[in-house]
Amino acid sequence: MTPERFDHIMRVVELAKEIAIANSFDNDEVAAACLAGMLHDVARDLTPEKLLELAPAQNDVERMHPLSVHGRAGRKIAERWGIEDGRVLEAISGHVFGVSPENRVGMAVYIADVTEPGRQVNHDIRELAMTSLFRAYQRAVDSKVRYLRSKGKSVHPETLRVYEAICNLT
Ligand SMILES: [Fe+2]
Repeated sequence: MTPERFDHIMRVVELAKEIAIANSFDNDEVAAACLAGMLHDVARDLTPEKLLELAPAQNDVERMHPLSVHGRAGRKIAERWGIEDGRVLEAISGHVFGVSPENRVGMAVYIADVTEPGRQVNHDIRELAMTSLFRAYQRAVDSKVRYLRSKGKSVHPETLRVYEAICNLT
């Protein structure tokens, strides 16, 4: 792991914890958010071959962009390390494409990942997350989809599924 990645991870842990506390998570949920933040990018710097070995591609987007499976690959590593908490495991796999809106831990980590100060974007979403976790999560997913579309990049089917699911909840 590069020093830059490590710094990103530590900022995600710190912010996920802040978001969790601001949204009245209990101690167990705060600890789960910190653990998931710590592990979310554990597979991020692996080679494409290793990534696809841990998390075989399930569609063309993943075959063309092996990095897109780094969430699922990270979950595989966490499972091997003995993590059994479903909220933490989903937060790790889902930090790339999105998590279920029932998983508060997963939403906190997803938001922390895309809004941590080192990214220099999405400050408004970071602020919103301190008062409304779900609204901030919606906006974070929305901003990811818009960003990908604006760059002409393909949006992963799972991201689209999450996007449609949480937009229908408003
Ligand atoms: Fe990541």
